[in-house]
Amino acid sequence: MDITLSRVNRIEGIIEVPADKSITHRAVILSSIAEGMSVVKNYLPSDDCLRTIEAFRLMGVDIKQDSGSLIIEGRGLSLNKPKRAIYAGNSGTTARLMSGILAGQNFESILTGDESLSKRPMERVIKPLTMMGAGFEAKDFHLPMTIIGALNLRGIHYKSAKSSAQVKSAVLFAGLYANGITSYSEPFKSRDHSEKMLRAFGADIEVAGNKVSISKAKKLNPQNITVAGDISSAAFFIAAALLVPDSCLTIKNVGINPTRDGFIECVKKMGADITFENVRDICGEPVADIIVRYSPLKAFNIDSKIVPRMIDEIPIYALLASRAEGTTKITGALELRVKESDRISAIASQFKKIGVEIEELEDGFIICGNSKREIQGGIVDSFSDHRIAMTLAVAALIAKDALSIKDASCVNISFPNFYEVLKTVCH
Ligand code: S3P
Repeated sequence: MDITLSRVNRIEGIIEVPADKSITHRAVILSSIAEGMSVVKNYLPSDDCLRTIEAFRLMGVDIKQDSGSLIIEGRGLSLNKPKRAIYAGNSGTTARLMSGILAGQNFESILTGDESLSKRPMERVIKPLTMMGAGFEAKDFHLPMTIIGALNLRGIHYKSAKSSAQVKSAVLFAGLYANGITSYSEPFKSRDHSEKMLRAFGADIEVAGNKVSISKAKKLNPQNITVAGDISSAAFFIAAALLVPDSCLTIKNVGINPTRDGFIECVKKMGADITFENVRDICGEPVADIIVRYSPLKAFNIDSKIVPRMIDEIPIYALLASRAEGTTKITGALELRVKESDRISAIASQFKKIGVEIEELEDGFIICGNSKREIQGGIVDSFSDHRIAMTLAVAALIAKDALSIKDASCVNISFPNFYEVLKTVCH
């Protein structure tokens, strides 16, 4: 499906964004390997999370979807051998987090993915999980991949060169099955939803700065979880309200975990008028209602230190940078080259098409901000990447002429009703 969007006069209203994708994956995974019934309220029923749900159903876990909640009958740490390959679709989180669980099973399994996921690197999980004693067969470290589970995994101390919540989670999940203590450390702290949730499910886990250690588990206890709204989805609406004159938008119930709030921190440094109201805690995750008003912006550079706290928001940050006063340099974001698309090349090529002055770097961009030079209309490509599609949709709201986005339905990966919600706030 292609979609055509046009300039709007203002963004106004009160909305809620869908539940957090990262937290939903983890809630499904840990509930499935706990002993007994867990309930996950306000889960995200997007394509990516459905892949994780299907994976556990295939391994004998009873998961019911009931009026906005998941009811999961966890069957303990040992799962049934799946009768066919586990299809992770477009979801890197499913593939990498599941690898950690499958590494500790008493069977061989096969993980497959769509065209995009089959190009993404799996060596990052294969390496530590092999050190722990699991076996892997994967041509050039890509899917399809066979995982030879081992009942006698051993704990390792893994120092990751990259900050990656997916690698961290795979190692910690395998650590539940491994003798002794398993630890993981990384240069800058990546999102910590796994650590928080593992503790809630009763795992013996310790966090010291950027290092996390976990002991072998006898069992996990089922939980009732309510998932907060996804800050990565909220970022597109925050950007829309910042860019369209006279806008004022309230986004309710957004997760503001400090390992995920780099985008808010940086846009505030750009001069954004953003306030938090009703700050509270939902299942150990900080949540707030976010109020955002149209704001003239100035350039603010980002580098490797902050990138892990806003990795998924860099495409939409780049759009804000193009409307800010001054030149923005974004570096330390090499990881964007191996996301759902090569996001550095996707952003640079599509932004050039709509009249943005942008230079592609190996690990980021240099963007010449110019709020006076209008965004041009035309036809742009999402490269079937949900976050590229949503970034271009926000660009359309301030474009001179209509902008058509190719393969716009890929928003289903993380935000199934994105265009409907957008329509309700466009005036
Ligand atoms: C995720 C971690 C991040 C992020 C992805 C979701 C997660 O990936 O980009 O969208 O849920 O753990 P990396 O861990 O590869 O940085």
